[in-house]
Amino acid sequence: MRIDVVSIFPTIFDALEVSLLGKARQSGLLDIRVHDLRDYTHDRHRTVDDTPYGGGAGMVMKPEPWGAALDDIVSEVDDRPLIVFPSPAGERFTQAIARELSTAPRIVFGCGRYEGIDERVFDYAAERGDVRLLSLGDYVLNGGEVAVMAMVEAIGRLVPGVVGNPESLVEESHEDGLLEYPSYTKPAVWREREVPPVLLSGNHGAVAAWRREQQVQRTRERRPDLLAD
Ligand code: ADE
Repeated sequence: MRIDVVSIFPTIFDALEVSLLGKARQSGLLDIRVHDLRDYTHDRHRTVDDTPYGGGAGMVMKPEPWGAALDDIVSEVDDRPLIVFPSPAGERFTQAIARELSTAPRIVFGCGRYEGIDERVFDYAAERGDVRLLSLGDYVLNGGEVAVMAMVEAIGRLVPGVVGNPESLVEESHEDGLLEYPSYTKPAVWREREVPPVLLSGNHGAVAAWRREQQVQRTRERRPDLLAD
């Protein structure tokens, strides 16, 4: 999978060089390219923002650098990549969407800052690819970078081969609409706290039933909204 990220803070994405995603990049499973939006400006100050038409607080990202970046990164002969703009005004990013996007051959992420990006950029991007606005959750970040980091990790780890043992992806929170069951390792007693005896019983059926029960109980307590769905 190829991933392009456009940002005015490209070094934030240095963190994608470590751990499983770093290894996946080295092995060629993930081709992640980070672009500095300011490289697509033409003035001495490398300006990417301006005051909003109609007034109001804050600054808006100018369309010209975004247009130049999209022209360079998404050529017209490209096979219409997915173009994702993280935004608190977008549709909620979920595990189901991560799974869907993990099958895309190519995703371009555009990170906005300030009060957002000039709206015409989204229309222009839609001529070159399939645009989606995705929100990490109902809170506001200073920009899209941290949201894109989270999305790239959630999507990238679902690309076949990135996580060594694919079975570990199956029993996770949100994969079956429930939260994950609690996990324990050795020692069996730690600071007077015991591991639930069923896990030491060797009875696979009983273990599976207990884990399911824990999943439902946790989900009911912490995320009743998931059960309502
Ligand atoms: N940019 C700012 N806040 C955001 C959020 N909650 N999700 C995605 N992108 C954002």
